[in-house]
Amino acid sequence: MAVLSCITLAHTVGPREVTTIEGLREHPLVHAFVRTDALQCGFCTPGQIVSAAALVEANPEPTREEIRHGMAGNLCRCGAYPNIEEAIATWRD
Ligand code: FES
Repeated sequence: MAVLSCITLAHTVGPREVTTIEGLREHPLVHAFVRTDALQCGFCTPGQIVSAAALVEANPEPTREEIRHGMAGNLCRCGAYPNIEEAIATWRD
């Protein structure tokens, strides 16, 4: 389950495991984002990848509609959304 770190108080996490973008360094999604050119400035990319990892963990083969719904709220000012969607749709290729 992905949560917004900026509004999550550390004491509410308790004993649960926390994964940040650094913990996803070897995740196939990172390579998919590079392969599909799913970033421009890279400002939003850590959040996009963390959200996408939570999405594919819950649903390894999301439809395009499920990707759009699951990634709602992750804003990219560059408009890289089509490539981000492609990265998630093909993350295991
Ligand atoms: S890649 Fe620039 S804001 Fe997302």
